[in-house]
Amino acid sequence: MTIPDIDLTVYPDECDAFGHLNQASFLSLFERARWEMLARGPGMDVFTREATWPAVRKTTVDYHAAAFPGDVLRFSHALVHHGRTSFTMRQTARRTKDDALIATAEFVFVCIDREGKPVPVPAEVGRFMNARPSSRGDTLRLTVNGVNLAVEVRGDGPAVLFVHGYPLDRTLWQHPLGALTGFRRIAPDLRGLGLSDAPDLGYSMATYADDLAALLDTLHVDTVVMCGLSMGGYIALEFARRYRSRLRGLVLMDTRAEADTPEARKAREGAMLMARERGAAAIAQQMLPRLFAPGAPQTMPQAVERVRLMMEAAPVKGIVGALAAMRDRVDSVPTLATLEGLPTLVVVGDQDQVTPPAVARGLANAIPGAVLNVIPGAGHLPPIEQPLATTRVLTEFLQSLR
Ligand code: MLT
Repeated sequence: MTIPDIDLTVYPDECDAFGHLNQASFLSLFERARWEMLARGPGMDVFTREATWPAVRKTTVDYHAAAFPGDVLRFSHALVHHGRTSFTMRQTARRTKDDALIATAEFVFVCIDREGKPVPVPAEVGRFMNARPSSRGDTLRLTVNGVNLAVEVRGDGPAVLFVHGYPLDRTLWQHPLGALTGFRRIAPDLRGLGLSDAPDLGYSMATYADDLAALLDTLHVDTVVMCGLSMGGYIALEFARRYRSRLRGLVLMDTRAEADTPEARKAREGAMLMARERGAAAIAQQMLPRLFAPGAPQTMPQAVERVRLMMEAAPVKGIVGALAAMRDRVDSVPTLATLEGLPTLVVVGDQDQVTPPAVARGLANAIPGAVLNVIPGAGHLPPIEQPLATTRVLTEFLQSLR
């Protein structure tokens, strides 16, 4: 069964003096769409049947464009996290007549009983929305280095820290997070992205790396294999400079060591302006075609849609911060020779247009002892485009370090 989209009409009494749909009414429309969606699946009483109630704990709404009386808004829904007692639903509202993105929202719910105590999410909700609860506990919310991060932690064994790219979130690693049993998998949303808090200022590769070191301290993890994709790779190289003794191995996926060229820096400035003026959706629209292998919209439309929603949900402050951090990052080429003795795997999609295989080959050649693995049929996002092959390559590398 697929999750149905819900169409709702905007009425004049929901609008302000200038005729725009007002904020309070927008929240009610989001809520009505959720109940309608459940009514067409497991039933509106799916919670009360189990003597529980989904209490909203956090709401994040990005308003992209105004809506007016008579507009029909199409609400789509995705479960982006399903824990034991909590779940997070992402909703997107588009105007049906021109497909304009009007708003995106994320709601974090905790299921509570009559006394307000957390109780398990009804299994039917997860089944209907095609989700599985994380194998151990919920996504954690941890305050480290002065910022509150959303972090997924699963399993036991040697620790692996997954660092996502820009402007993505930890769900990039959904497949290896689920599949790599026998390892403690740790995947944070970086500050400013995903469900983590997005401060106004203070973004740099050094800050991201310090956040990760503080996160490991909080989780009482001494050493990790760090696996970073694209911007996650820039952060991993900064981490290697600052916290080398905490690394047991390194996976550099679809990334590069060089700093931005003057043209790339200029492009970052343009993207910062675009994000401030037109929001995350404009960034997603510009980036999406370059992230996937050619033909992906036809061969894997659901994966493309998933990444689009992920990018559209990124807070503008976090996007601008990440762009500044990437623009200002130092050249990591001199660091590569110093990685001697650290087992390193370089991975790249054979059709990556952002950091092509030739870049990955150069990176692997410059790191003493590094191994290169090229994933066929993938662009810049192998864990999403070719999840099985990517997880297999990661498993082999991690097993070799045991
Ligand atoms: C990423 O995927 O993290 C970014 O595309 C990297 C970049 O823009 O340099």
